Amino acid sequence: MDSDVMTSRPSLTERLGLRHPIIQAPLAGGGDTPELVAAVGEAGGFGFIGAAYLTPPQIADAARAVKAHTGRPFGVSLFAPLRAPDVPKNPAAALARLAPYYADLGLGPPELPAPAPDGFPAQLAAALESGASAFSFTFGIVPSEAIAAVKARGMFVLGTATTVDEAIDLERAGVDAIVAQGSEAGGHRGTFAGPFEAGMIGTVALVPQIVDAVGVPVVASGGIMDGRGIAATLALGAAAVQMGTAFLTCDEAGIPPVYKDAILSAHENATQITMAFSGRPARGIANRFMTEMAAGPGDDYILPFPLQNALTRPLRTAASRQARSEYLSLWAGQGVRLARRQPAAELVARLARETKETLERLNANWTKGTVNARG
Ligand SMILES: Cc1cc2nc3c(=O)[nH]c(=O)nc-3n(C[C@H](O)[C@H](O)[C@H](O)COP(=O)(O)O)c2cc1C
Repeated sequence: MDSDVMTSRPSLTERLGLRHPIIQAPLAGGGDTPELVAAVGEAGGFGFIGAAYLTPPQIADAARAVKAHTGRPFGVSLFAPLRAPDVPKNPAAALARLAPYYADLGLGPPELPAPAPDGFPAQLAAALESGASAFSFTFGIVPSEAIAAVKARGMFVLGTATTVDEAIDLERAGVDAIVAQGSEAGGHRGTFAGPFEAGMIGTVALVPQIVDAVGVPVVASGGIMDGRGIAATLALGAAAVQMGTAFLTCDEAGIPPVYKDAILSAHENATQITMAFSGRPARGIANRFMTEMAAGPGDDYILPFPLQNALTRPLRTAASRQARSEYLSLWAGQGVRLARRQPAAELVARLARETKETLERLNANWTKGTVNARG
């Protein structure tokens, strides 16, 4: 239905089976339970399994669980393979910095994680076998053989861009659509073609500039929480939206209750970008760990991704068990104040209704000569 007659862009709506132009973002780390992914699909949206931290058998299990709940299509998402991290200059500093936090949670002293082998090929193989209809990735561009293998399965391929140049590179690499990730977005920055600071473009500025620069459909992402945000980004030329934070407070989302509460009580200025949890920049609600780690000392006390992620995992796991939100990575976008607690089906239905109402109201008011209801 959305195949754009004016530009002959391939139809994202048809390929993803969308009744509503709403994609539930991959929420790596446990947010996107199979129940959430299935409920979003059943409601006429499209759900992703964020599989970046999953082993191949876990990817297979998650896909099986989604398929047990729904016959609707779903996606699998991975991180593009990264070059092996540099050997830390001063691992002792990173361990010493975390030792008091480990102790506070009743854990033994932190240990330097062993560098993990590149898991991407086996994860990709599991994604190809999963029965998913779409494959998305972030943090870079996956190898051309991977894109070819995914397409050979008839799967729809989406890559993540935070700048126009990244979007052009992704289109050249053969993706079917581009997720334009604005700086408001919760979770890790997808920036891969330069320092993350150079990819901090707000969604309203980023989306139309990417739409003008590429021929494939663009999915808007970052700070979109309700039908007003969806209508706004459709007006900017997006074919659909990808929303993360809004789905994290759904009943089916797998994050700890204290994390949901933190989102539901947060204000628009509550989030910051931090490297402290994983070694890669990511947006989350500022808590004690983020604030104290940001205070230094120096810059060699945070290991490169994914070593820092492995180093803080025991901390985050213990904090989750003990309901200590001061040590959790509370990934969330700047739209937090608009978050609601509800079942995913209700959220998707509400978003669809609000989008339609917003577009109709704007159209009617424009025709009448008033800009909007308050204007
Ligand atoms: C908890 C969490 C986990 C995320 N995991 C992934 C992921 O695995 N892959 C990915 O491409 N994006 C991931 N994202 C980013 C989303 O794709 C999206 O860019 C972001 O959620 C949009 O901003 P919003 O949270 O304001 O809706 C994650 C976001 C959050 C909040």
